[in-house]
Amino acid sequence: MQFKTIIEPFRIKTVEPIRQTTRAERELLLAEAGYNLFLLKAEDVLIDLLTDSGTGATSSGQWAGMMLGDESYAGARSFFKFETAVTHITHFQHVIPTHQGRAAERILFGSALKEGDIVPNNTHFDTTRANVEYRGATALDIPVPEGRDPALVLPFKGNIDLETLEKVIVENPGRVPLAMITVTNNSGGGQPVSMANIRAASEICRRHGVPLFLDACRFAENAWFIKMREEGYADKTPLEIAQEMFSYADGCTMSAKKDGMANIGGFLALNDDALAQECKTLLILTEGFPTYGGLAGYDLEAIAVGLEEVLHEDYLRYRVRSVAYLGDILTKNGIPIVQPPGGHAIYIDAKAMLPHIPPSEYPAWALSLVMYLEGGVRTVEIGSVMFGLQPDGAEKPAAMELVRMAFPRRVYTQSHVDYLAEVLLYVNSIKDRIRGVKIVEAPPVLRHFTARLAPAHDTLLA
Ligand code: F0G
Repeated sequence: MQFKTIIEPFRIKTVEPIRQTTRAERELLLAEAGYNLFLLKAEDVLIDLLTDSGTGATSSGQWAGMMLGDESYAGARSFFKFETAVTHITHFQHVIPTHQGRAAERILFGSALKEGDIVPNNTHFDTTRANVEYRGATALDIPVPEGRDPALVLPFKGNIDLETLEKVIVENPGRVPLAMITVTNNSGGGQPVSMANIRAASEICRRHGVPLFLDACRFAENAWFIKMREEGYADKTPLEIAQEMFSYADGCTMSAKKDGMANIGGFLALNDDALAQECKTLLILTEGFPTYGGLAGYDLEAIAVGLEEVLHEDYLRYRVRSVAYLGDILTKNGIPIVQPPGGHAIYIDAKAMLPHIPPSEYPAWALSLVMYLEGGVRTVEIGSVMFGLQPDGAEKPAAMELVRMAFPRRVYTQSHVDYLAEVLLYVNSIKDRIRGVKIVEAPPVLRHFTARLAPAHDTLLA
């Protein structure tokens, strides 16, 4: 390539205004929202990095497809287009559309798990964990140990611990109905999983007759990291790499709100005929007929086109680079982040940044509140508010205290990111004044979504 600047490989056709608020307004808004960023009104947020899920911009190609949406109840043309797009990449026999990823999880676990079972995974996402536990089964996180050290720079910190995987299967005969690998490892810092690791996990699972499922939400970003970092893949296309990743699995759950480039949707895909039949029955009960699964025909069209666009090399190059761009600025300025930068997000290591706040006062949550207060930026805590409450009601600090800045796909430009960096450098300059928070009220599961909190010592800043 002649020039080194990596540009957004699109131009903007439709714009959506975003709104500035004052610091004084945000102070009131935070109190009204119970110091929980999930409870803010989105229009009170300037730059929204709460999630990369369903928040992306859709392309003109997707809108063209959406206009062709076939809304027939059964056998719609849009379903077959969607099914072809999914099987082209995954080669799984059965493709079951769902309204989003967690519905695929609920249907899979509802059919495949029973009480007392164990599901090993590099790291379960929160809804995945909750859906496993809802079945009375254990969601076991077994990332490689280096995946839990935020500062370590290694190419594939998302890998699953193969030795532990085999040990869990061998020591619990009949109790591991499936194993999972999440690509990329979202709760573990958006870190990729290597092809070698997926292949080896697959060999272990096949040897013991345990089906392996990919939680494939960010499969294209994972494929790009394999292309960039794993020997032997530099000359393969992202599609070829993705196809190989799926070839080692027996099925996948997918949130099309991520690498499906859609605002809603997901699917469950698998090879086992009997299990697929059972899943389809459950699907009809709660999601819809198997050719729409709770989605409109135009949603299926948007996903079909999105799955094709997400594997474009210029898109993936820009995507991963634009996230790393922020990571590089933060690293240069001494702000601790999970290294190296993930595919969809930068994760600030709040434990390292705010050592004066104990885990019992939720340092990552406090930091995310101050980022909103000072800059109108919304992020999400992935720490002890999200993961600290155990199924038995006990409180145990999470492995890491992270603030995730997840980037919606094709939405923000470089100047948005420069603004963000400025906000973060300012917050870093006042970090010694940031104080902890406490939970005032919370539900027993997935508490971070609706809990109400308060400053643990009167104010957020000393
Ligand atoms: N698995 C992973 C790895 C995820 O990141 C998510 C969603 C899901 C499953 C569930 O999919 O939202 O379509 O039901 N993650 C979003 C996030 C919400 O913000 O990381 P869903």
